[in-house]
Amino acid sequence: MGTRDTRRIFKGLVINPLAPDRVDYYDPGYLVIEGEKIVRITADDPRWEFPDAKFRDFNEKIILPGFVDTHVHLPQFAMMGVGEGELLTWLNTYTYPEEARFADPAYAEEISTTFFDELVANGTTTAAIYCSIHEPATDIAFIAARAKGVRAFIGKVMMDRNSPPGLMEDTERSIHASVRLFEKWDNNDGGRLRYVFTPRFAASCSISLMHRVGQIARETGAFVQSHLAENVNEVRWIRDLFPDKPSYAGVYDDAGLLGARTIMAHCIHLSAEEINLLAKREVKIAFCPYSNQTLRSGTMPYRKLQDAGLMISLGTDIAGGPSLSMFEQMREAIRATAMTPTEALYLATLAGARSLGISDHIGNFAAGKDADFIVVDVKPRRKAEEALSTLCLESDKKCVVEVYVRGNLMYF
Ligand code: GUN
Ligand code: ZN
Repeated sequence: MGTRDTRRIFKGLVINPLAPDRVDYYDPGYLVIEGEKIVRITADDPRWEFPDAKFRDFNEKIILPGFVDTHVHLPQFAMMGVGEGELLTWLNTYTYPEEARFADPAYAEEISTTFFDELVANGTTTAAIYCSIHEPATDIAFIAARAKGVRAFIGKVMMDRNSPPGLMEDTERSIHASVRLFEKWDNNDGGRLRYVFTPRFAASCSISLMHRVGQIARETGAFVQSHLAENVNEVRWIRDLFPDKPSYAGVYDDAGLLGARTIMAHCIHLSAEEINLLAKREVKIAFCPYSNQTLRSGTMPYRKLQDAGLMISLGTDIAGGPSLSMFEQMREAIRATAMTPTEALYLATLAGARSLGISDHIGNFAAGKDADFIVVDVKPRRKAEEALSTLCLESDKKCVVEVYVRGNLMYF
């Protein structure tokens, strides 16, 4: 097939995030793609220029870039909305028993397949994902991600202390399994799959495990993800476990885990020194407002982190958060911080791409990026500018009518 045959034009209300305070509206707009890539977005009908292109008119529907979820737990997919209690009780009572089930590859396969189907059905086309401790289950997650065509940053969770028997790893085995997965999967599928070293949080990892991961990350440039300062009792526990360390962030820094390719989730209960340290190390922050609300963890000091120069993006943190929908994360982010819908959309798309270092490939509709986009049906509006607040305040998975990953229709 020649390239002319692969050109397509999609018409609708195109919304293109550009910055925390800048979004472009094209009403109507035309998204021109060629194969897997975006050629341009324009308000001028381009059909005369591309007479062979296939044309699709979405009328009043909205065309948005695919969402980027920068913090989500695949093995918690089957327990969304389950459980009461704050973080540590919730982990022990509901989460760890569910994750232990991923020792069974058949169960891992069933949930992984459904997870990626649902992720895409929600309009998310890129995600940073935690798996369970199990190496085969993590392999299965990578295979499922590749089959769905999404961009995925995936890691096997590491836990070598303070964990229940079924999830307690030997330090060396944990490291070897993670390195094997890194070597097997990092940059697989044309670079769309990345491995992320995933020490779960400082309470479930020994110092020696964290140091080894820090060393590997330094040597290889690998990504790292973990949790930081989510809950007051968790922070107290870390203080007791590491009495010699200056702070929670200081524990990770000592181990060499803080860098520009590190994504730390939550970051609620931090001192000014810790915030400065994270900024100095260029750590990326996954803001999980719905989870913070449902686990009663507190409110992330969004403006303080932003003022310190930190890069912040959104995460669903299922099953701490009860929804895979980035619409609902945007809504909760607005509630928690009073940010504008423009800023919430930026956090859910381009900021995530920047945090993951892939804003040359995804995050908005700039020419040459992947044609990852979603079509959304919201109720009638008076002006294009009003559509974005409706998207943020009243939309959810049910509004997503079609999802394209690199130009391929993956959900309808
Ligand atoms: N801290 C350590 N593990 C977890 C987890 O699975 N979810 C959340 N929200 N916080 C954590
Ligand atoms: Zn989490």
